Amino acid sequence: MAELNLMDKIVSLCKRRGFIYPASEIYGGFANAFDYGPLGSQLKKNIKDEWWRRFVIEREDIVGLDSAIIQNPRTWEASGHLASFTDPMVECKKCHNRFRIDKLLEEISGMSIEDAYHQFLHEWWNDLDKRIKASSQEATEEVKKAEVQVKKVREKMQKKGVGPREFNKEQKEYQAKHLLDYSFTGFDNLQAEVKEFLRISEEGVPAYLGHLVNTFKLLCKECGSREFTHPRDFNLMFKTYVGPIEDSSAVAYLRPETAQGIFLNFKNILQSTRIKIPLGIAQIGKAFRNEITPGNFIFRTREFEQGEIEFFVEPNLAESKKWYEEWLKIWKAFFVDLGIKEKNLSIREHAKEELSHYSSGTSDVEYDFPFGVSELAGVAQRTDFDLKNHQEKSGQDLRYFDEATGERYLPFVVEPTMGIDRAMLAFLVDAYDESDGKDGREEGEITLRIDPRLAPVKVAVFPLMKKDKLPEIAKKIMTEMHRIGLNAQYDESGSVGRRYRRQDEIGTPWCVTVDFDSIKDNTVTVRDRDTMKQERVKIEELVSHFQARLFK
Ligand code: GAP
Repeated sequence: MAELNLMDKIVSLCKRRGFIYPASEIYGGFANAFDYGPLGSQLKKNIKDEWWRRFVIEREDIVGLDSAIIQNPRTWEASGHLASFTDPMVECKKCHNRFRIDKLLEEISGMSIEDAYHQFLHEWWNDLDKRIKASSQEATEEVKKAEVQVKKVREKMQKKGVGPREFNKEQKEYQAKHLLDYSFTGFDNLQAEVKEFLRISEEGVPAYLGHLVNTFKLLCKECGSREFTHPRDFNLMFKTYVGPIEDSSAVAYLRPETAQGIFLNFKNILQSTRIKIPLGIAQIGKAFRNEITPGNFIFRTREFEQGEIEFFVEPNLAESKKWYEEWLKIWKAFFVDLGIKEKNLSIREHAKEELSHYSSGTSDVEYDFPFGVSELAGVAQRTDFDLKNHQEKSGQDLRYFDEATGERYLPFVVEPTMGIDRAMLAFLVDAYDESDGKDGREEGEITLRIDPRLAPVKVAVFPLMKKDKLPEIAKKIMTEMHRIGLNAQYDESGSVGRRYRRQDEIGTPWCVTVDFDSIKDNTVTVRDRDTMKQERVKIEELVSHFQARLFK
């Protein structure tokens, strides 16, 4: 059997031990949807509890919120999601598979869509320029404009270090077919080609994508056909109807981000609390997006959870930038403090072309997932985009009143956001450890080295044998753990070694074994998951023993 890759191993562990199951499995599953099992739901809850504790309970400048998933549809008009929350999609005319054309291109070319676009213009001009010169025609106005455009493109490429790279065979073939062969482009003459070059370089990525389809430069990854429908903007919001009549007046949407519920409640929160700017409103909840290309397990799904904060600051870019930088640090520290190895995290600033419709600056916190470095969380500067639009559309005054200065203003917003499911995947990937057989475990044995604060089960309690008073003592210890809010599990089946292995696999940090000495001296053996060290601890000191390790 072929060796499983890390992602397959994690998916298999999650299913086997009850972290995550494919949704609707008895009906053959359902479009990249997942259910969180007994351990997964607890792990996810622990992540959310750590988040809420740090960003709501412990911060005097942030308050919590739990807003409705279905809001007045005018919300999405004001937020820009109705008009702009779209992905460009094409359908292969032969096999009818649908693709996000930008993602398709990124996959095959091995570069970001912007880099592929710039590379395309750069190569096209190399070729086109030669042909113009060979034709010894006068340089037209359009040629001069195109030269200016290509200069800008090349400067951008140089700045970002986009240049020759190592490509694999598939990518080389792709480039040979699509990025270098400009002699056939279907134009009547050079002037027409220059005109098209100029249009694409001025209009940007969408025009480039359309051009690739129009000139058959795109290859379907599924069937190899070159015929696609035109790129169509596909709105990612899930539409539904509220009430019994399914007409246009009943249309509503499932929220695609939790953020808007926060903006809608900005005025309520100002009126019902005494919080002052800079202030944050935090919310954890489900968001829904009709993703065209869900995938990579729980990384991209259509239903997911977000943990978002809208952090309102004085309305100037300097203040916004200061908090944006601060939140990037806090966001990264959240993951590092909860056990993610720092070397696996990176920060990536979005290029201008990549920014969401509301953002004047965004950076992603990325994680080195088994399928590549990808977005885990982000921080965006949303300026007063949202409040301004909601104020305009609702006719309500959403300005903040600064008592100190007597000024009224719409604050700017810095938005730290993270995907809870993505965070969970990163915690699982980072914690997954398979023994090489040299650490006292057998080769291939799995230990989930998850931070004890996140571990779904904190303590496992074993009676050494099912006799005398050992099970009773063990159950009493378990009940005591439950009383102080620690999830403890009782296990009496199999050898103690097997029981350790079962707990290591699900990341339980401590195992307590009750043996015959426990009856005599009221002590038990506590075994640590990571060091595998064992120590005798008095039963009455177990609570403080674990509390000291959990609440460092
Ligand atoms: N309010 C801003 C916002 O929603 P976003 O970058 O679109 O920004 C925020 O989403 C976070 O939500 C991302 O960093 C990611 O972790 C998570 N996320 C977005 N789409 C997702 C999906 N389809 N599946 C799982 N998580 C997703």
